Amino acid sequence: MPHVSGVVNRGRGMGVVEHGRLAGKAAVVTGAASGIGRAIAKRFAKEGAAVTVADQDTGGGEETAAQIRAAGGQARFAACDVADAASVAKMIDGAAAAYGRLNVLVSNAGIGTRGRAEEVSIEDWNRVIAVNLSGVFYGAKYAIPYLRRQGGGAIVNVSSAYGIVAAPETAAYCASKGGVIMLTRQLAVDYSAEGIRVNALCPGFVDTDMGGRRAALPSPQREIAQANREANAALQPIGRQAHPDEIAAAALYLASDEASFVVGATLSVDGGETIGHPYRLT
Ligand SMILES: NC(=O)c1ccc[n+]([C@@H]2O[C@H](COP(=O)([O-])OP(=O)(O)OC[C@H]3O[C@@H](n4cnc5c(N)ncnc54)[C@H](O)[C@@H]3O)[C@@H](O)[C@H]2O)c1
Repeated sequence: MPHVSGVVNRGRGMGVVEHGRLAGKAAVVTGAASGIGRAIAKRFAKEGAAVTVADQDTGGGEETAAQIRAAGGQARFAACDVADAASVAKMIDGAAAAYGRLNVLVSNAGIGTRGRAEEVSIEDWNRVIAVNLSGVFYGAKYAIPYLRRQGGGAIVNVSSAYGIVAAPETAAYCASKGGVIMLTRQLAVDYSAEGIRVNALCPGFVDTDMGGRRAALPSPQREIAQANREANAALQPIGRQAHPDEIAAAALYLASDEASFVVGATLSVDGGETIGHPYRLT
């Protein structure tokens, strides 16, 4: 992956990055115990950010923070359920207190559920909306006062290609991710004049195991699910899944000052998934 490397100050012993595209910034990344969130947290730290790794998965979150520190970056883990407003408020307060400021929030935590409307349970619907949409709202609600104190900041909300185009049997997920795009625009309308930029990032097929769903399947269903995913990704113009680092690079851009005039945007990082029909004409 292309990488604008930071300058490592070895003289300070711990190799803390003092220059980089996020040098001097403090960032929160939710859902950073695995997958895309972990890649974002690691990339942000490489670029000089002091990172709060927020997740409900303590083992994975501690591991992300440990990996960042082992590489010479600054990171701490904070347990958080993004679907719980009080938990998010506490996590954001803790992040700002730990590093004395908050400049960037990436609301990335997300879950999926399968089913057409008549098949999705009310519990699953409510949970997906609570995590994927309300979680993004809570993050913004509690981070904005801290961003304002720094004279501005950046919020990156991770939506999905499925927030733009509908997929079969994903009623709750598509609705939640579409909501993230509109919430992003609305927040951008209200807060851009204060220097708080809010943008949405829409990944396509990324090579993660969202929620560990495939890993939990017995064989051979696991292998079939993996093959189906790769076959679907092969239909996209780019013909493959993304590496999480490719999504992290886009999150870095939106979080950095290089995106200073990018406001309320929906940035597709999807290998062309949403630009046209995937079928082949014969
Ligand atoms: N993988 C893809 O193909 C893909 C495509 C488009 C969008 N996305 C989105 O990217 C984001 C990251 O997905 P991923 O693929 O890395 O999946 P993942 O399952 O590897 O990571 C999601 C993380 O969110 C955490 N999380 C879930 N619920 C939470 C909660 N209530 N509170 C706090 N943390 C919680 C999980 O513990 C996990 O660490 C999600 O929002 C997902 O919808 C993923």
